[in-house]
Amino acid sequence: MAIRIALFNHKGGVAKTTTAFNLGWMLAAKGKRVILADCDPQCNLTGMVLGFRGATDLEALYKSPGVHNIRDGLAPAFESRPAPIVAVKCQPVVGQPNMVLMPGHIGLAEYEVTLGIAQELSGTLVTLQNLPGSITFLFEETARKYNADYLLIDMSPSLGPVNQNLLMTSHYFLVPMMPDYFSVMATDSLASVLPRWRAWSKKAQQQLILQNATYPFPNVTPKLLGTIVQNYRLRSGGPSKAFQSWVDEIKAGVRDKLIPALRANNMLLPPEAYARAGAPLDKPLLQMSAYNGLIVRSQKYQAPIFDLTDAQLEQKGVVLERTKKSMKNFRRLYSEGADKIIGLTNNASGT
Ligand SMILES: Nc1ncnc2c1ncn2[C@@H]1O[C@H](COP(=O)(O)OP(=O)(O)OP(=O)(O)O)[C@@H](O)[C@H]1O
Ligand SMILES: [Mg+2]
Repeated sequence: MAIRIALFNHKGGVAKTTTAFNLGWMLAAKGKRVILADCDPQCNLTGMVLGFRGATDLEALYKSPGVHNIRDGLAPAFESRPAPIVAVKCQPVVGQPNMVLMPGHIGLAEYEVTLGIAQELSGTLVTLQNLPGSITFLFEETARKYNADYLLIDMSPSLGPVNQNLLMTSHYFLVPMMPDYFSVMATDSLASVLPRWRAWSKKAQQQLILQNATYPFPNVTPKLLGTIVQNYRLRSGGPSKAFQSWVDEIKAGVRDKLIPALRANNMLLPPEAYARAGAPLDKPLLQMSAYNGLIVRSQKYQAPIFDLTDAQLEQKGVVLERTKKSMKNFRRLYSEGADKIIGLTNNASGT
């Protein structure tokens, strides 16, 4: 069974999508079979992988016969169609044969309200019993079709019912952050939201009506793999503390609030698992500085920031050499991050 890893933070713009793409690529480069699932109605990951310049290409993809995106995959459950949920036909990722994309759809947002009702009622209404387990079922069918080892879930920046479901039905999760005031606040709110979500999923797992559904609600408790801190500034100017002091505040919030809350709710692996994988929770699993020019090239060529060719870098001489050195550094960081994830997910099953 594929291991499902959610990338979650309700704070926007913390590099969830960028990390999903690059980390997925690195796991694939290490021989793992990866599905990138775009579960954000903004569809940024889909745009990043497929490099669509305009809406027309995406429209053509959506209109082609068959199930090509997550929304259409879930439609049988959400629109009470008599057809069963079947695997999504994923899109290839050019240059990385071990990875495919499950495209997103803006219409996924239309299912928020219905899923919210289904989850609030937690299985007291038979007509809604198939919804809470439907996303997991779709993921499992698709992972089986592609023989995937990992399914990386890119999420929207929200605390809505779809994210509640995606996170609580994952085996593991990563929390990407930025060293700023809002990420510090987000850590605090995660420490209070995640225990509530866990209380909900625990209750849902005990409902017979959900266990007996066509798409049963899965019996998993998601475990934190770690945090990812991207050290760059989206907007410059204005008074700001030095990055390091925000990194320190994030670390303190994670240590003093998030981790105790997760521990109390069985959402951590055993402490020795983190030590064994070289991924102690008091440090970010992955910490990176600004990608600078690499991000533009990466987006232009739909290639990871650590694996651009000289031609794609479009530079010469000492400038090219300097960029290649920085790219090599990012490659090392992503490689170490991927190894930690492989170690953590091998260590103990989160299921
Ligand atoms: N290390 C980095 N250096 C420079 N720019 C970066 C870095 N990581 C991400 N970015 C840029 O920051 C922006 C936000 O990143 P991204 O879209 O991955 O965030 P997100 O958390 O997925 O956002 P959202 O919450 O809207 O889904 C993008 O323009 C991306 O190219
Ligand atoms: Mg995103």
